[in-house]
Amino acid sequence: MTSTASAQVPEGRGAQPDHLGHVIFITAAAAMGGFLFGYDSSVINGAVEGIRGKYHIGSGELAQVIAIALIGCAIGAATAGRIADRIGRIRVMQISAVLFTVSAVGSALPFALWDLAFWRVLGGIAIGMASVIGPAYIAEVSPPAYRGRLGSFQQAAIVVGIAVSQLVNWGILNLADGDQRGKLIGLEAWQVMLGVMVVPAVLYGLLSFAIPESPRFLISAGKIGKAKAVLADVEGGGVDLDTRVAEIEQAMRSEHKSTFKDLLGGRAGFLPIVWIGIGLSIFQQLVGINVAFYYSATLWQSVGIDPSASFFYSFTTSIINIIGTVIAMIFVDRIGRRPLALIGSTGMVIGLALEAWAFSAKTAGGTLPHAQGVVALIAAHCFVLFFALSWGVVVWVFLGEMFPNRIRAAALGVAASAQWIANWAITASFPSLSDWNLSATYIIYMAFALLSIPFVLKFVKETKGKALEEMG
Ligand code: GLC
Repeated sequence: MTSTASAQVPEGRGAQPDHLGHVIFITAAAAMGGFLFGYDSSVINGAVEGIRGKYHIGSGELAQVIAIALIGCAIGAATAGRIADRIGRIRVMQISAVLFTVSAVGSALPFALWDLAFWRVLGGIAIGMASVIGPAYIAEVSPPAYRGRLGSFQQAAIVVGIAVSQLVNWGILNLADGDQRGKLIGLEAWQVMLGVMVVPAVLYGLLSFAIPESPRFLISAGKIGKAKAVLADVEGGGVDLDTRVAEIEQAMRSEHKSTFKDLLGGRAGFLPIVWIGIGLSIFQQLVGINVAFYYSATLWQSVGIDPSASFFYSFTTSIINIIGTVIAMIFVDRIGRRPLALIGSTGMVIGLALEAWAFSAKTAGGTLPHAQGVVALIAAHCFVLFFALSWGVVVWVFLGEMFPNRIRAAALGVAASAQWIANWAITASFPSLSDWNLSATYIIYMAFALLSIPFVLKFVKETKGKALEEMG
């Protein structure tokens, strides 16, 4: 723990937890949901050509099959909070693990295209649930001084999931002699890619039995003894348990299970804090980050880079994404969430502007002059680096911690489903936008990165080092 972090933290809350190792294990287990989120949302990219070949469909239909999973994500995110408030955070992880498992098996063995789409939607619901329950649970079990860093495990797991899915797909493709429809253990390569997810899904389910329920949920369910035991475990010695329970209870006094209605207030529909969460989520997507992950191979090929090199650049992007995430994990509790977000936005504006400039030289035939090609590659990697060290981590940390206890789960659900809808809008619109004008498309993403700066300056409050009970 850094001295800066402890200086910001009220006495007792920054205390070195007796079992920091255990807290890290608990966080990592919960973040397995993030791994599956990253893995499942990007695994499809390696499988698309196989699916297209098998079902003889065009790009339009294929894009719909891909994008429909994101609608499942929005549904999962919107419902997870309420379920978590009724039956607990751990149960939601278990439901999500079961859905992941069933969806992996179903997607690997579909008997028709609509059947595949059905299993992908089911998997999407699991991703949406995992996207909400991970940050909520981690924020609730983390001691305040570590909450940013522990919260960033979620994003770390997402980015590792993305990179691993690319590696596994690449490995499977090689075993199938480079053909997505090549046979492997009696299945086509793309089916194996989708089925492999059973392994982390089952692991996630098993790990959920090894970690404790959130103390805040236990208190709301009247299980004070159990809550104290968990608090003692995660917040460590030096913490007066009766006072902590009283603090949490007081913060929950007006608690009734949070519902959609609790998020409403004033003329603006939702409470202002809920709008801020939605804004953070939407900006995170509107800068076009997932174009870099879902379409990178196609993008590089469209500007004249050959297919095997474009696979390589997709992978280097994932590695840069991991490096940026580690940088964010180091700084999120030191310099805070807001400064990181502002640094990231500035870097993204520059990266996106350079990409827009480079792509403006794209000829009808599809190749970039050498200089522009190099600039495009460097700028794309810079963009991902700045995203990863800022908005990638910061938004999930903010969403886990910025809402008052009373509305956390429900508000996080609304903000996360807005994020999935924004993700869907960007993912579904990119193919037509890029056909229209690739450079202009990047200018649109750049404009959103630029707008995110005044948004953070005006509306977003720093949460570094504050107890969850102080949010409001
Ligand atoms: C964040 C975004 C997700 C994106 C990922 C890339 O987790 O929410 O949509 O794929 O970052 O690292």
